[in-house]
Amino acid sequence: MFRLQSPLPDRYVEATPDELAGWIATARADLGSKVVILGHHYQRDEVMTWADARGDSFGLARFAAAQREASYVVFCGVQFMAESADVLTSGDQQVILPDLNAGCSMADMADLDSVETAWEEIASVVDVESLVPITYMNSSAALKAFVGRHGGAVCTSSNARAVLSWALGLEPGEDPVSGAKRTGRRVLFFPDQHLGRNTAFQLGFASSDMSVWNPRLDLGGLEDTKVKSSTFLLWKGHCSVHQRFSVEQVAAFRAEHPDGKVLVHPECSHEVVELGDEVGSTDAIIRYVENAPPGTVMGVATEIHLVHRLANEHPDVTVVSLDPLVCPCSTMFRIDAPHLAWVLEGLVAGEVRNRIVVDDETAAGARIALERMLAIT
Ligand code: 13P
Ligand code: SF4
Repeated sequence: MFRLQSPLPDRYVEATPDELAGWIATARADLGSKVVILGHHYQRDEVMTWADARGDSFGLARFAAAQREASYVVFCGVQFMAESADVLTSGDQQVILPDLNAGCSMADMADLDSVETAWEEIASVVDVESLVPITYMNSSAALKAFVGRHGGAVCTSSNARAVLSWALGLEPGEDPVSGAKRTGRRVLFFPDQHLGRNTAFQLGFASSDMSVWNPRLDLGGLEDTKVKSSTFLLWKGHCSVHQRFSVEQVAAFRAEHPDGKVLVHPECSHEVVELGDEVGSTDAIIRYVENAPPGTVMGVATEIHLVHRLANEHPDVTVVSLDPLVCPCSTMFRIDAPHLAWVLEGLVAGEVRNRIVVDDETAAGARIALERMLAIT
């Protein structure tokens, strides 16, 4: 689904922050329990302040699946999250994304055509029965549907380990490396090579068990023998925000704060993840900061709005970004108070603006993959 956001009416563009806050508050009060506002941790404060639930992508998917009361779910996040919410909510609930241009550059790095091509190419070399597709939540509903139809599941940064263990067919408590040999299963993981690699290392696999699949090259740029010997085929995709964090930044932080702690999102490169004291989803990073003893200094490798919010909400500790020049996630940043006010006032006027709808066939496949994930974790 690709639609361009049309410019907002001048009234919203020219409004002051106080006016916008007043309009949002009035619209929300009018709508009452008919609307629920969800906010991903990377959202701006001017948006998060109105969220009925804050969360990482897993938490918000779970929230969307569980809540049945609100007719309208205003999703302050990015397109793939709103699509998942539409798949997981009931047919009479409508999901709204305040700015249609809030996509995700990582999700755009894998499309259905290239994944289908990859699947056929891999199937020409290995027994397709042994191949399990796993897509990161950061992917289109069409890819989730592909995964659902081919026996795979969705994962997020908070449950990738459990989902990959499931994909490999491991018994509870079984050693993953010998378990994967026993089952003979292999995983095609997309679109984020880093989350796939970091999770495979966490499970005890070696770099020789993994190969990067380059969708622009025949057979992903790999020899037949390499495809056959790889337990993990990792799609050549990445997050431009998290890929910026470097080993040098960690070293500079440690030199300045020898007792400091380094908290890293698993979309960062493996070299950076290896140096982290804590590696986890946005929720895991938040929990670490909440539980840190007063006086702790933490350098964080994730999106800057979350880092600033943590710093402001926890004045007894010090929270800084590891990247002095870090940029926000430019697509998350598109959701702002003017867009939120515009969609809420639309609902008050009886007009549903920016509804996100996943067609029935795609939704049916994507629901299988999302519900598998929810059942695994
Ligand atoms: P979380 O799974 O931690 O919410 O991260 C989502 C995301 O887009 C990170 O870039
Ligand atoms: Fe996508 Fe990266 Fe933004 Fe997350 S931070 S929404 S992965 S571009």
